[in-house]
Parts: sequence; C-alpha cells; structure tokens
Amino acid sequence: MDPVLFIGRSNPELGGKLAAALGGEPGRCLIEEFADGEIRVEVKEDIAGREACLLQSTGAPTGRNVLELLLLADACRRRGARRITAVIPYFGYARQDRRVSGEEPIGARLMADLLATRCDRIVAVDLHNAAIEGFASVPLVHLSAVPLLVEAFRKYRTSENVLVAPDAGAVKLVQRYGEMLHLPVAYIEKVRKSDKEVSVQAIAGEVKDRAPVLVDDMISTGGTMVAAIEALTEAGARADFSIIASHCLLAGRAAAKLEKLPIRRIITTDSMPTRSPNGLPLESHPLARLLADALRDPVRP
Ligand code: R5P
Repeated sequence: MDPVLFIGRSNPELGGKLAAALGGEPGRCLIEEFADGEIRVEVKEDIAGREACLLQSTGAPTGRNVLELLLLADACRRRGARRITAVIPYFGYARQDRRVSGEEPIGARLMADLLATRCDRIVAVDLHNAAIEGFASVPLVHLSAVPLLVEAFRKYRTSENVLVAPDAGAVKLVQRYGEMLHLPVAYIEKVRKSDKEVSVQAIAGEVKDRAPVLVDDMISTGGTMVAAIEALTEAGARADFSIIASHCLLAGRAAAKLEKLPIRRIITTDSMPTRSPNGLPLESHPLARLLADALRDPVRP
C-alpha cells in the first residue's frame, strides 16, 4: 500500500509537488495554534497499518517546525501507522555537529535523538555533514541534490569558470562538482568571527580573470558568499559570479546583501521556500522527484 504523505507548514509548495510526484492527494491533517502559541495537530486520515511520510524542513521558524514534526509523528503513531518517515529536505541544526569551545551542545545529535523518539526513518538532503547519519539510531537516507544542481548549471558552464569552495567545509563538495563539470577548483580559507561575520584569510588556486562559481551546502545570512566574492574580486576574478548551494535560507538581510553583488545566478533547490521579493537571480530546482523516488524505493531501509 502506498505511503500517506502529511505536509507540515514549513514548505507547502514542495509538499504539493511531492504529493503529485507520489501520485496522490496528501493525507488530511489539521495544524493550527492555540492562542498561547502551542501547536495543535490532528491527523484526520485512517493510517492504521500504513506508512506515514511527514514532510517538514526544519529551517525558520526552526523550533516551531521541529516540534510540529514531532507532534505529527506522535499523532501518526497513536493512529497506528506501521512506519513513520520524517522527510526533512533541509535539516536544521546540522551545523551544530561538534563542540568548538566545549561550552555548546551538539544540536545535530539532539535533533537525531528527538526524531528517533517518534520516527522510524529519516530522509534528508545534502546534510551539512554526512557524518550526522551516524548520530541517528534509526535509518537515515541521505539523498544528494548535487547531480540535479550539476545538470542545472551545465548549460551555463564555460571554460573560463573556476569552482570555488568558500570555506574548508566545502572542499570535498567542490571537488565533487569539479569532477562532474570538468572544471578547475580553488579554495578559500574562511574564519568565522560570529554567526553573521566571516573574513577571508587566503585563496588557493587560479582565480584571476576567471568567472567563479561558488559552491556550498547552504546560504544562510549570506556572509560567507559576500566575503568570498569580495576576496575573489580583490584577487582579480571577473565580476561574473555564480553560486550553487543545495539550501537557500536567505536569513535576515541576506537577500539585500547579495543583491548588491555581481551575481549572475544562484542555483539552488526548493528545500526551503525561497523568500526573495527583490531582484535576486534565483533558480530553484524542485526536489519532489528525488524525494518521491526515494520514498517509493523498496530496496531502501
Ligand atoms: C558553513 O560551514 C556552511 O557550509 C555555510 O558556509 C554557512 O552555513 C553559510 O552561512 P552564512 O550564509 O550565514 O555565511
């Protein structure tokens, strides 16, 4: 029997596309808030003995979206679902994957633990750190949007491009793009001063007179991209930048900051709804097919 898809409030547009890709209507559920802000959920579908798939990205408002997902999972369990799959295209808290000062929690581990209390399986896309799979005590299906994004960029590719990792965390990712697009790569050494402020220490690789393509797993405040573009410009790169990032959060003033820069295109996915009312050249590619194929794959855990 096909799984029943329930769509949380984080990304209704992707939810609609995923329901269509799965070939049916989403499961009926009520999600609302009490006057004091508590979330109230009712699963209106008879799902006894069936698999329930819960679509919810855990980006902003992050706390609300996480709790809403857990409440949906709890309701599905109490309605007798055979298996509960949390489908999390953008997995928030993944950047909190280790302790730096020794004073922090490990948010990614906590997320995995919370999800495992109510869900039997997690499906995620381009996690900030693939090692997060090891945090989860339930099977985690880690999908990649990289092939989709490579194909989206291929029509713009020129021999004058250089792929650039804007920080050490993106090095492996940029190498993967380099192999698939047959382009040279360069690396930036970034130092993060605060959650909103970063600075560039050095650039390794040939960037002069080249059109850089910055590759990262996500754009949040945009600070990483702004610092990278400024440093590359100073190093003689062309004022012709592209960005490829799996997740485009555009937190705070990110859109306003990025709009001022010579960015020709930002190629991303619809893992989070894109709020860019202004003139950002966003190309958002749907994840529905990738997710639907994974959810229907009988061989996956
Ligand atoms: C960090 O390691 C990530 O890969 C991204 O570089 C970072 O999260 C982007 O954040 P922001 O856009 O706020 O600089």
